[in-house]
Amino acid sequence: MIFWYSGCGNSRFVAEQLAAGLNQELIFIPEAERSGSEIEINGDEMVGFVFPIYAWAAPKLVTDFIAKIRFAKRPEYLFAAVTCGDETGYTYRTFSRFLQKQGVILDAFFSFKMPETYINLPGFKLDTPQSEKSKIDAVKEQLPDVITSISKRDRGNFDELKGGAPFLKSYMLKPLFYGLLISDKPFNVNDSCNGCGRCARECPLQNINMVEGRPVWNGNCTNCMSCYHHCPKNAINFGKQTCGKGQYYFNRPQATANEKRE
Ligand SMILES: Cc1cc2nc3c(=O)[nH]c(=O)nc-3n(C[C@H](O)[C@H](O)[C@H](O)COP(=O)(O)O)c2cc1C
Ligand code: SF4
Ligand code: SF4
Repeated sequence: MIFWYSGCGNSRFVAEQLAAGLNQELIFIPEAERSGSEIEINGDEMVGFVFPIYAWAAPKLVTDFIAKIRFAKRPEYLFAAVTCGDETGYTYRTFSRFLQKQGVILDAFFSFKMPETYINLPGFKLDTPQSEKSKIDAVKEQLPDVITSISKRDRGNFDELKGGAPFLKSYMLKPLFYGLLISDKPFNVNDSCNGCGRCARECPLQNINMVEGRPVWNGNCTNCMSCYHHCPKNAINFGKQTCGKGQYYFNRPQATANEKRE
């Protein structure tokens, strides 16, 4: 059983590949949350969590979801596979401690470097099309080894993307990030919006309503940026921070991605 969350498709790709290679069922965390049904783990199965790194940590919506799972018995093997644009910081450490508090052990932790999706601050930008491609190619090469590792029930921290100053990032900047930056208030839409509604359909949290042909954000946002990146008119911006920075989502047609970043 693989529980997954993704905003822009990177982690969905990894989750789907792992599920296919390991013959596991996929459960999309926001959908499971919306269904409201209690999840119980009975100990005889493999459990995986796949998610993007937000502020050098597991996204809050992922840990909030896991906190509600009833672990009747410890899973036979529990792994996490995360995607990040650059660095994971101390995600392994904070996530394994969080799981310990839920009464379970994180047996293995894998990380994948994927194209960047977060561009809401000055200096934060997307990968170039070349770097986008080389990251995805490298992940495609990495996946079979990770599938073999999980099949063999390898145990350990296999993260090679911790990066520098992980304590500062995961313990000090992360709370600031959640406290000060995560909000949908800065989102705005310009006149090129054609009312297609794709932004609303692509929001994993169903946080967008279409009102009189324009998106309206409802305050339950994790800043995954899926609405921004999927807009076919590039009509959405986050304040002015995203203006002219281009768009990306997994499997976005490359020609369009190039055009947008030239
Ligand atoms: C809100 C937010 C915070 C992010 N924080 C980090 C981070 O701390 N370190 C990092 O390397 N990438 C960070 N990223 C980039 C994503 O982790 C990365 O692009 C990931 O593969 C996106 O996965 P998704 O397509 O499944 O949403 C962040 C992205 C978002 C949207
Ligand atoms: S995806 Fe873009 S064009 Fe379509 S409704 Fe949303 S903002 Fe408008
Ligand atoms: S409103 Fe946009 S940024 Fe916020 S959760 Fe939905 S898709 Fe992600």
